[in-house]
Amino acid sequence: MPRAHHPREDLFNTLKPSSRLSLRAQLAIVRAMPILTCDFPGLKKIRSGKVREIFDLGEHLLFVATDRISAFDCVLPNPIPHKGAVLTQISAFWFEKFGFVPNHVVTANFSEFPEELRRFPELRGRSMIVKKSQPLAVECIVRGYLVGSGWKEYQQRGTVCGQRLPSGIQQAEKLPETLFTPSTKAESGHDENISWDECRGIVGDDVANKVRAYSIRIYEEARAYAAERGIIVADTKFEFGLRDGEIVWIDECLTPDSSRFWPADQYAVGANPPSYDKQSVRDYLETLDWDKTPPAPPLPEDVIAKTSDKYLEAFRLITGRGLLGD
Ligand SMILES: Nc1ncnc2c1ncn2[C@@H]1O[C@H](COP(=O)(O)OP(=O)(O)O)[C@@H](O)[C@H]1O
Ligand SMILES: [Mg+2]
Repeated sequence: MPRAHHPREDLFNTLKPSSRLSLRAQLAIVRAMPILTCDFPGLKKIRSGKVREIFDLGEHLLFVATDRISAFDCVLPNPIPHKGAVLTQISAFWFEKFGFVPNHVVTANFSEFPEELRRFPELRGRSMIVKKSQPLAVECIVRGYLVGSGWKEYQQRGTVCGQRLPSGIQQAEKLPETLFTPSTKAESGHDENISWDECRGIVGDDVANKVRAYSIRIYEEARAYAAERGIIVADTKFEFGLRDGEIVWIDECLTPDSSRFWPADQYAVGANPPSYDKQSVRDYLETLDWDKTPPAPPLPEDVIAKTSDKYLEAFRLITGRGLLGD
């Protein structure tokens, strides 16, 4: 297998003691380096997910989004520049906007990080300090449009995750009512859809009712907000946890990774709209003779650049500003 090119290698070569760059310029280079993985001396990593690396800070967690990208459930060998910062800062934006739901963010602002973390400039922009919580064993999925697995099930049985819908809805059409379709949170393998009754059985009536109400309200407000900025949020996944008996909104939220974002100008009822961010990656991978099992093949530079631009564009459209720490 060809070795994945890692932009970090070139950049490290510029960071020699003889470098004529100022310290400030060198730090700017370190911050802009895309990363596939990270480790920090003295910090205990407690989890490495598909995208995030999580470190234990005692009462809090350090939640670091790398620039890894996955497609067809495989992590690809190339990092996507700025992706981690986009995920972290879009999440921070929404958490703040929907402050009516208690959330896990302590700070996403690097200059507020404790001194021992500010030694690591690559954390800037891509990481947040969050309150440790006990994640609920369910994922809160909300659907506003009929697409993907929902569309398949509807065609076969007239239902989505077991919930009956009126007949005659077309692919990618907006649903008459927002659906809450919870799933299990599998430690390995695929999450499985569960019924509302099963969800209540797992987390209890009170918690189930609250997270459903929160999920639907946040989704509908975010959808209306994004629609004015050229992005359709077709569906999304939220996670909640418990901390001192209180429900806390955790994880990432309303990012291109946790949601289906569609470019509004390419949307048409009756066809599956392109994915806002990953379309060129998927299109490229479909041209290869790859069986969709690991290891995934490397991506060409133009696909990487286009994908990075799409993440940045989603960030700009939603937040109305440029990325911090870049
Ligand atoms: N505040 C929190 N406290 C404890 N666990 C959290 C918190 N926020 C998110 N998590 C957990 O951290 C993990 C996020 O890592 P991620 O890279 O997204 O993994 P995955 O590939 O499983 O999505 C999820 O399992 C999520 O439940
Ligand atoms: Mg995740």
